[in-house]
Amino acid sequence: MSQPRSPFIRPDWVPAVPEGMRILVTGATGGLGRALVAMLRQGSRCVIGAHGASQSFGAEDGLIPLQRAFASEADCAAVVDEFAEAAGGIDALVVLSGCILYTGHWKDITEEQWRREQEINLDQPFFLARAAMARMAAQGTGGRILLTGTESAIHGGSATSFPYAVAKRGTECMVQGMAREGAPHSVLVNGLRFGFIESGFHQRWHNRSPAQMDERAALVPLRRGGHVDEAAALMIWLLSGWSAFMTGQMIPLTGGDWL
Ligand SMILES: NC(=O)c1ccc[n+]([C@@H]2O[C@H](COP(=O)([O-])OP(=O)(O)OC[C@H]3O[C@@H](n4cnc5c(N)ncnc54)[C@H](OP(=O)(O)O)[C@@H]3O)[C@@H](O)[C@H]2O)c1
Repeated sequence: MSQPRSPFIRPDWVPAVPEGMRILVTGATGGLGRALVAMLRQGSRCVIGAHGASQSFGAEDGLIPLQRAFASEADCAAVVDEFAEAAGGIDALVVLSGCILYTGHWKDITEEQWRREQEINLDQPFFLARAAMARMAAQGTGGRILLTGTESAIHGGSATSFPYAVAKRGTECMVQGMAREGAPHSVLVNGLRFGFIESGFHQRWHNRSPAQMDERAALVPLRRGGHVDEAAALMIWLLSGWSAFMTGQMIPLTGGDWL
């Protein structure tokens, strides 16, 4: 692979959230989630609910492990409730749970497979965000909700990730509509529109080989995939006091992809 135009050189500081912030991260066991949890633990004194589906965190100081595969609204509400009860409330929700289960061409997808992709990537983020927002509004202390999109969704997705992309584009609508509802309660709702981030996602769900990962990275104008810590730093900034005047926005992190 050719040299990246803008290599990732790790800065010597990490962004931080307010002390004591109670943050639920769904999908914390994934590549992006683990980076977010690690950076929060490095730079902030906060309470983290670390959710996973097939994997689980161990119980450590300031970390509340939660394990549940989402299959219904009740599962989503249960994880929000479980965290809020253990932490004494909830100040932020970061939804990183998501996947691509169907990797064939959309021409061949069955109704059941289509619905499953929408459930995990669109329905469940909505149920999670709604449950968290209700708690934050009732607390009267404001809050932050971060949802996850994908840059490819605003370009029609690809043939082999089409239902996922449709769900992620729907998430963008959710960010705007929920931000409007949350604003009177100081609940800010924003989203990340990730490009090609080297989190393990592409190997896990699309079975990408190292050569395919290199080929994909070479298509990015900055000629590399994003580092998970670059994504974690942006998420923490969006949870921090410095983003208190921002709501209803999708923030791209793409290395210039699709320009
Ligand atoms: N990496 C990228 O390039 C990229 C680009 C655009 C968008 N995104 C989005 O960013 C988010 C995080 O991705 P990632 O890269 O960290 O992916 P990842 O490493 O594959 O992590 C996915 C996470 O979702 C959880 N999950 C999967 N199925 C679930 C289910 N049925 N119920 C509950 N949780 C479930 C997984 O839990 P277990 O591991 O415990 O099973 C894991 O924590 C996803 O929404 C993804 O779509 C990623």
